[in-house]
Amino acid sequence: MSEYARAGGIFRKLWPQEQMLFRDHLLRLDKASRAMRFAHGVSDSFIEDYASHMTDAGSTVFAYIEDGEVRAAAELKKLGDLWGREAEAAFSVEAAYQDHGLGTELMGRVIRAARNRGVNLLYMSCLASNAKMQAIARKHEADLRFELGEVIGEIVPQEPNYFSLLAEAVEDRVGFMMAVLDLQRRVVKAA
Ligand SMILES: CC(C)(COP(=O)(O)OP(=O)(O)OC[C@H]1O[C@@H](n2cnc3c(N)ncnc32)[C@H](O)[C@@H]1OP(=O)(O)O)[C@@H](O)C(=O)NCCC(=O)NCCS
Repeated sequence: MSEYARAGGIFRKLWPQEQMLFRDHLLRLDKASRAMRFAHGVSDSFIEDYASHMTDAGSTVFAYIEDGEVRAAAELKKLGDLWGREAEAAFSVEAAYQDHGLGTELMGRVIRAARNRGVNLLYMSCLASNAKMQAIARKHEADLRFELGEVIGEIVPQEPNYFSLLAEAVEDRVGFMMAVLDLQRRVVKAA
């Protein structure tokens, strides 16, 4: 059993109705993590506005959820109106949860989802000083190149196949059940 499963945590996609969980997670990021995530310092109101557009334009947000709270997230965004050959990814892990492999796990899911959508170039826009992202990208055999103080990670996902599609579909079914349970928990808490 993995460290996360022991802690009662689960990885799943967020539903559009769960944007407040995403917002609360981003608001909990400390100053340094916020600056690394958005490439500059951002205010609470910026985050609130950003999170309110969570699933605009078909973005997918993968989350690590523990006790009903999102503790880490990875966004996969298409570039342009339709899913094409290129997409963008961004990652955030709350300070107390960093360095436990969550970013690595989330990147695996983002790469699989990108692959299943026919993306063959995934950009990660990170500050050049972001050694952790570079370490994770290397683990996934990403090509990294530096551009004007940013690291543009170029990941070349493989073609989708039966197993990558099935793995995402199975995980989505489990994710759906867990989302319903999380919703029930929130309703009971609020009652
Ligand atoms: C960057 C971030 C997403 C990484 O997530 P994480 O869960 O902490 O990362 P992981 O634990 O999966 O992996 C981190 C790796 O970096 C390595 N690492 C940690 N500190 C390091 C350093 N100073 N130099 C080089 N490597 C380092 C770790 O050893 C680990 O590699 P390993 O598993 O081979 O040992 C997370 O720290 C975060 O949210 N930071 C703030 C926001 C951010 O930078 N977002 C990215 C912008 S797109």
